[in-house]
Amino acid sequence: MPLTMDTLVSLSKRRGFVFQSSEIYGGTGSVWDYGPLGVELKQNIKRLWWRDFVQMRPDMVGIDAAILMHPNVWRASGHVEQFTDPMVDCRECQHRFRADHVDARPWLHFCPATKGNKFEIAAGEACPRCGARRTLCPDCGKGELTTARNFNLMFKTFMGPVEDDAAVTYLRPETAQAMFVNFENVLQSMRLKLPFGIAQAGRSFRNEITPGNFIFRTREFEQMEIEYFVNPHETVEGRPADEYWHDRWIADCMAWFRRYGLSEGNLRLREHEKDELAHYAKRTLDIEYRFPIGWSELMGIANRTDYDLKQHAKFSGKTLTYFDEERKEHVVPYVIEPAAGVDRALLAFLAEAYQEEEVRGEKRVVLRFHPELAPVKVAVLPLLKKREEIVKTAHGIRSELARHWRVVYDDTAAIGRLYRRQDEVGTPYCVTVDVQTVGDSEKGEQGDQRVTIRDRDSMQQVRVPMRELVPVFQELLTGGDWAAVAGRFGTAAAAAAG
Ligand code: GAP
Repeated sequence: MPLTMDTLVSLSKRRGFVFQSSEIYGGTGSVWDYGPLGVELKQNIKRLWWRDFVQMRPDMVGIDAAILMHPNVWRASGHVEQFTDPMVDCRECQHRFRADHVDARPWLHFCPATKGNKFEIAAGEACPRCGARRTLCPDCGKGELTTARNFNLMFKTFMGPVEDDAAVTYLRPETAQAMFVNFENVLQSMRLKLPFGIAQAGRSFRNEITPGNFIFRTREFEQMEIEYFVNPHETVEGRPADEYWHDRWIADCMAWFRRYGLSEGNLRLREHEKDELAHYAKRTLDIEYRFPIGWSELMGIANRTDYDLKQHAKFSGKTLTYFDEERKEHVVPYVIEPAAGVDRALLAFLAEAYQEEEVRGEKRVVLRFHPELAPVKVAVLPLLKKREEIVKTAHGIRSELARHWRVVYDDTAAIGRLYRRQDEVGTPYCVTVDVQTVGDSEKGEQGDQRVTIRDRDSMQQVRVPMRELVPVFQELLTGGDWAAVAGRFGTAAAAAAG
């Protein structure tokens, strides 16, 4: 059965990944809160992105800029004038739609060929009974739609105590502009040479007309953006530097998503048509993912040319150039912009990880997250919660491992149930402490000081000396192979319900 968004929404709520914002008040439209496991997953995505694209690269630095910026930033960038969507309203039910999205929704139809009976017709299709196509409101099927009006997507707010026009500012609709307005500060303070990039991960806000599809399109979300500045007068491998770096970033971003688990068959590139390109872009490609709603944008990688630096130079009156020592001239760098959404990346990783399978006649739901993404790395489970020695040893292992990773302890069910719970949130490894580990002091029996590690994906188990746990998990959680560990320690017969 194909995976549906409803399945992910319900798992996310049930297991503490994502909750509807202000749910007890009926919810806030298209705003979501990340729960205890969601916040871990989200932080892992941002941390890996920062590690791989900032920390590991000598040509990258990061910033963390304020969300509220000078209102002229948004005049210079074109957002005040052009960051709009065409919007239509229903004159009957007052529902509001993006004009270019109306035909992508199923529509209600009171069919004259059946004495006005009500039918829901699939998006873009004609009524099979009377042949009519949609002309009225898709939601109520009765009201006429107004002509399209442009609606600015920025959230407006006021700076200071007086709510007048002079105090108007905006919640940033993208993180990108902070990299342009800080270009000179970063260049001078870090003594950088082209090409170099500035990265930022943070919140953005858009008053989307038709948000929806869970965390795919929301009004408050997080972006991970890079502005990579190149010298437009240089060539690399015989190609203009901006074109060369544009292709390099496309390849690097695709490789990053594959590395953390998105499969080849669920990823593709889509080139923007000329008439679709943003006003600032020379060329843009989207990386698309096959979400449960179909192929949709996961991130965009644009060649923004020198548009932004020139605009900010014009509006601020400051010089925003780079001195090219070799050519002894000032140049305005071109910029390549890999712009990803954290929430969309999380949705893609969640959808890809989700699997249902049958194990010994029972359904097993498992999230096969890459270990570095998994919200919890290890769960420590006592086989008998009434045996004090077992419980004490399990708590001790949890606190030792928690110095390195997110680790949980759970004794609230039988071992088979505990394993299933961890499978369902994607925990790659469980550690079980049993009688053999601690022995039986009343009978004078010594424990073997070994515990069982159970692998989420194969459900195989190995018995490992407790003192080896940290190095073994260091190996397994940084790309080490389970088969190698199993080979070293030997797999154990599956205890309890695997
Ligand atoms: N600075 C360029 C820029 O912001 P964008 O294509 O509008 O480009 C980049 O946004 C990424 O941000 C998108 O590919 C998507 O992953 C994410 N994004 C944009 N709008 C979003 C929304 N309303 N909800 C969730 N994510 C969004």
